[in-house]
Amino acid sequence: MTDIKIIEELDELKKSLRENSYRYYNLDDPLISDAEYDGMMNRLLEIEGTYPELVTLDSPSHRVGAKPLDFFEPVTHKIPMLSLANAFNDNDLRAFDKRVRELAGSDKMEYAVELKFDGLAVSLTYVNGAFLLGTTRGDGTVGENVTANLRTVDKIPLKISGFQELEVRGEVFMRRSDFEALNEKKAALSEKVFANPRNAAAGSLRQLDSKITAQRRLGFFAYSFPQPLDSLATHSDSMKYLQSLGFPVDPNSAVCGDIDCVIDFCNLWIKKRSELDYEVDGVVVKVNSLRLQQELGFVSRSPRWAIAYKLPSTEVKTKLLGIEVQVGRTGTLTPVAVLEPVLVDGSTVSRATLHNEDEIKRKNLKIGDYVWLHKAGQVIPEIISSIPELRTGDETDFLMPHNCPVCGESAVRIDGESAVRCINISCMAQIKEGLIHYCSKKAMDIAGFGRAIVEQLVDTGLVKSIEDIYSLTEQSLAGLERMGVKLAAKLISAREKSKSKPLKNFIYALGIRHVGERVAALLANRFGTVDNFLEASYDDFIAIGDVGPEIASMLILFIKDNRERILKLKEIGVFLDGAPGSRSKLPFASKSFVITGTLSAMGRSEAEDIIEGLGGKNSSSVSKKTDYVIAGAQPGSKYDKALALSVKILTETDFLDLIKQYEK
Ligand code: IVH
Repeated sequence: MTDIKIIEELDELKKSLRENSYRYYNLDDPLISDAEYDGMMNRLLEIEGTYPELVTLDSPSHRVGAKPLDFFEPVTHKIPMLSLANAFNDNDLRAFDKRVRELAGSDKMEYAVELKFDGLAVSLTYVNGAFLLGTTRGDGTVGENVTANLRTVDKIPLKISGFQELEVRGEVFMRRSDFEALNEKKAALSEKVFANPRNAAAGSLRQLDSKITAQRRLGFFAYSFPQPLDSLATHSDSMKYLQSLGFPVDPNSAVCGDIDCVIDFCNLWIKKRSELDYEVDGVVVKVNSLRLQQELGFVSRSPRWAIAYKLPSTEVKTKLLGIEVQVGRTGTLTPVAVLEPVLVDGSTVSRATLHNEDEIKRKNLKIGDYVWLHKAGQVIPEIISSIPELRTGDETDFLMPHNCPVCGESAVRIDGESAVRCINISCMAQIKEGLIHYCSKKAMDIAGFGRAIVEQLVDTGLVKSIEDIYSLTEQSLAGLERMGVKLAAKLISAREKSKSKPLKNFIYALGIRHVGERVAALLANRFGTVDNFLEASYDDFIAIGDVGPEIASMLILFIKDNRERILKLKEIGVFLDGAPGSRSKLPFASKSFVITGTLSAMGRSEAEDIIEGLGGKNSSSVSKKTDYVIAGAQPGSKYDKALALSVKILTETDFLDLIKQYEK
């Protein structure tokens, strides 16, 4: 029997620690000293160590971390964690406002505006008041269980009152000051430093040992209830309510009566963002009425009722030390700026692509120049212009080479194009880049065949073409540097597994110029099998919407030059429909599907992959020929069209039941 006095002391300690932690972290107004706080925490840990049966889920002792995990358990989100569409300028914001007002049939629209924190989205589930499950966003459908780590984040309440079950979403981040202090500490220990506060936050949250997370001083801002509460009418009310429950919310939010006010808010934060101690990369604009949010629903993976305005990136000055020339997969020679390393919007930049020689002329760049640099779309480092006033006279002009820097063959500029290309199709650089592309995740997804391995394979002469990848054996791989038996076996098994990737991945993997993921998917959908694809005519290609004369000609040329190689790959057994007739035996053979609305158990592309894997075709529009329309939550106009054309409609559950039968 546990002494009643101990239970009372424990309750008292928990209460006091909770109150003081809230005062310290959320109100910035502590009533007791750090030493007193630590003393109470130590006593709590001591009691809980002696009486483990008294450890409750909401105990403040979780703040110091728990036993290390072996891995993070995957968790399927009850409601998918979606992303936001982007706006880059006033016009985009006005177009968003117009769209929203038209859909809502209203002249006026009220928006809640708040900062977009540059951290990681997390979802927190409270059951009977206790914080029971905390997950990362993951791919939006399945995240990772990081509960023990989130319990160490002081700002996240371990206990709330008044709900059977409540889910709260928000952003975990690291303050700039904490990031700098952490990096200083790491540098002093000769450890690798984090590139930016976001990476530091992500690295800290994804620690298998939550005691490490506990030392990282992560911050948190709540920003929504994914399941709206009946008692609340607006998003701004939700934020107030979140605050009253003890969740930290950013004080820099506002409510705007029209889009002009939203634009003013964005402009204000373009100037003020650097004053904050945390990184923000935009402003999130949300329709304030929760009823309207429900009505507007979602399109693809984003809500129609919100948009993220991306703050333009900061411009910094740095020096152009040199210009290197890289050779890409299609032989294009790309000049790349080598820069004096400089910190811009949270990460250090030392290289930036210059695209082609015209771009260098247009920007008036000389080697040795000081230049203005920013991140285009917040991500890609870009030189804006040179600063000619700072020239000393020692700067030199850049000359595009007339020969490929890798193979030495002629590099020519094709009439009407700005790119200079190496014309040697056996050029090592092209071969390497083409192979790296072929093996990459969105292409054939051969796990482990990254740049380092592929470069070694080409350099040692083991691989000269895609076909050679399939002659590799564990024995032949064994000769490579740092290649153990286990790794070799893993690579071969990954290669075998990738043979059954759908046709769209294979077409994309071929690296045909102008054929990106989207066009590859259109082609795979239209032709279904590799044989049909190889037999297609120029007119067949043109008949596909979105395939213009340039792509069609490129496809005809590519097929002419590569038919034999592709047939050889088919013989080797690459891609599901390789074996004659095998695809027609699949359960969804010759059935076409259209997905509308949001699926909750899986992402749309995952559902599409399953359909394709079972032999079906995905289409983006409903016609009489459509066999099934899968309707997720908030379906769009495709649902109405399916009803009108009497196309069979499957709910998500129907679809899941259907595919369950074919699970291996
Ligand atoms: S609301 C349907 N509010 O932005 C998504 N998101 O692209 C609703 N983010 O992964 C999200 N600050 O992590 C919302 N004030 C804010 C945010 C915010 C940052 C992130 C979030 C999400 C991404 C959306």
